[in-house]
Amino acid sequence: MARGFKNITVLDISETAIDVCKKRMGEAAGRIQWLVADVTRTELNTSAYDVWHDRAVFHFLTRPERRAAYVRNVARSVKRDGHVIVSTFGPEGPKKCSGLDVVRYDADSLHDQLGARFRLVESSKELHRTPFGTTQQFLYCYCKVE
Ligand SMILES: C[S@@+](CC[C@H](N)C(=O)[O-])C[C@H]1O[C@@H](n2cnc3c(N)ncnc32)[C@H](O)[C@@H]1O
Repeated sequence: MARGFKNITVLDISETAIDVCKKRMGEAAGRIQWLVADVTRTELNTSAYDVWHDRAVFHFLTRPERRAAYVRNVARSVKRDGHVIVSTFGPEGPKKCSGLDVVRYDADSLHDQLGARFRLVESSKELHRTPFGTTQQFLYCYCKVE
C-alpha cells in the first residue's frame, strides 16, 4: 500500500492469521479485501489481479491435485500480462514447517508446477531469518502470465 498498490486482497486459510494482519494494518485494513479461504478450494474472480504474491504457502501443497487447483486459481484470477511471484522453500530449505510436510523447489521445478502459460522471468534465493533466530532458504520465482 505504501508503494501505491490498490485493490489489494489478502487471502489466508487461517482466520487468526488474517486477524493478526488486520490489527497490524490499523486503519488501513479497511482498504484491503480480506479473504479467509483455502486457496485450492475457493474460486477467485476472473482477471481480477495484476499481481499475485505468495510467500510460503505453495510449498505446503503436498498433493498434486491441490497444486493443480492452486495453479488454476492463479491462471484465472491474474490478468494477461500480469505478474506472479511465488516463493517457497528452496532446495536446501527445511523439509517441514510448523510440523507439516512441505515440498522444496528450485526455479525449474517450481516453474514446471506453474506450467507454460507462466513465463519465468527471474528467480533468486534468499536466506530468511525467522523470528526464532534460525535461517531458512527460500526460492523466489517471478513469472509473467502469457
Ligand atoms: C509460513 S506462513 C506464511 C504467511 C505469509 N504469507 C508470510 O509470508 O508471512 C504460511 C501461511 O499459509 C497459510 N496456508 C496454508 N495452507 C493454505 C491454503 N491451502 N490456503 C490458504 N492459506 C494457506 C497458513 O495459514 C499460513 O498463514
